[in-house]
Amino acid sequence: MEAGGIGTFVSGFPADFGWGTATSAYQIEGAVDEGGRGQSIWDIFSHESGRIERGENADISCDHYHHWQEDLDLMAELGLSVYRFSIAWPRVMPDGKGPLNEEGVGFYSGLIDGLLERGITPFPTLYHWDLPQALEEEGGWMNRDTSQRFAEYAAAMFERFGDRVDLWLTHNEPWVAAFVAYVAGEHAPGGCEDWPLALRVSHHLLLSHGLAVQALRASRAASAKIGFAPNLQPVHPLTGSPEDAEAARIWDGFQNRWFLDPVFKGSYPEDMLAEYERFGVEEAIEDGDLAVISSPVDLLGVNFYQQATVKHDPDSVFLGVAGVPTRPPLTDMGWAVTPEALHELLLRLKRDYGDFDIYITENGAAYPDEWDGGDIVEDPKRVDFISRHLESLSQAIADGVNVKGYCVWALLDNFEWAKGYDKRFGLYYVDYPTQRRIPKRSALWYRDQIAASRLATPQEDE
Ligand code: FCB
Repeated sequence: MEAGGIGTFVSGFPADFGWGTATSAYQIEGAVDEGGRGQSIWDIFSHESGRIERGENADISCDHYHHWQEDLDLMAELGLSVYRFSIAWPRVMPDGKGPLNEEGVGFYSGLIDGLLERGITPFPTLYHWDLPQALEEEGGWMNRDTSQRFAEYAAAMFERFGDRVDLWLTHNEPWVAAFVAYVAGEHAPGGCEDWPLALRVSHHLLLSHGLAVQALRASRAASAKIGFAPNLQPVHPLTGSPEDAEAARIWDGFQNRWFLDPVFKGSYPEDMLAEYERFGVEEAIEDGDLAVISSPVDLLGVNFYQQATVKHDPDSVFLGVAGVPTRPPLTDMGWAVTPEALHELLLRLKRDYGDFDIYITENGAAYPDEWDGGDIVEDPKRVDFISRHLESLSQAIADGVNVKGYCVWALLDNFEWAKGYDKRFGLYYVDYPTQRRIPKRSALWYRDQIAASRLATPQEDE
């Protein structure tokens, strides 16, 4: 089938570029009570009244737990070379510590083998927000011990899968896990406007990242590559006023530098330590922690959706800074479409943090796709969105940024956290009542983009 002429194919990618898609366990797997899986904080949170739009939860979602082979076939049809998924900690370690649940390990082992059989590189994330509820009951991420439990879980995964997995991510978007959960209260476990707690959580997430990197180096998979995947945004002030300039500095520190500096420079940014002093942040940071957190990584995962445009707003819960909806067109999430900001971000990362492998571990858009019962769902805006971001990426590669791969969020429509099923990000439309997957135009376009890129830069062994 032809891609339909929307969205020009983008050139300039190396022959071994990793063309991928991404998903996460809680958002697609379903089967929450099967195979010996323990509960996670998202199982509890999503069943609390008022937490998720329309009272939805991910008990079934895309039922990927039972449809995984079909889903791997979809990826093979697209010609993907890499698949970013997450391992559900409570599926492999139901209590968050102690013995492994072999049935859960077997699920991911089969998935990894299935990917390798199809020539797709597995790229697992160890934590995409689904903390075992048993650990939450011991304080969750506000308890420093959870970092150690995470490292033990990570070590077990390196032991079991290290023979077949060469690319790892520790955390997905620790900013969201700390601040959207504990300040905005919109994500599990749903604390509210608790800055001291959110900052403590952010430190423990970073500490657990460093401990997991060290666990990898000590494991049979020592030569594998590892990093983490923060959500990053270039930040622009709304106006030229000194207040808005200050707001932009704070937002950049809050969202970007608070996570990048400790990992890549071994220190928290001074201006943010001063900003957070009133929340007692230093109490959580012990001697030696930053040396652990800055254990050398091999790669950075970049989750990129939009540029932030901010202004000073004394009423905002986020440090007196508010994001401003920029000019239309917006996606169905109300997010701005700013592909040029990806180029800006990548050049800034290289300038400020160094020259390491970068994978775009998430990029994509929600649109209100509709299926008319036919064989394809037309989604021209998503084709346009992806092709424009690939243009920006190609420009960054031309400018010397070492980008190794790109993963569209998401392979399938799925459970979009507090927004539920209404926000559709997939290359494939999911008809939830029948669990049928219907390709969107963007899936076919992406398939053809991948093929065109490979044709332009043939692999050496071809
Ligand atoms: C990111 C999350 C991912 C998905 C996308 C739309 O913040 O990492 O799970 O929800 O947003």
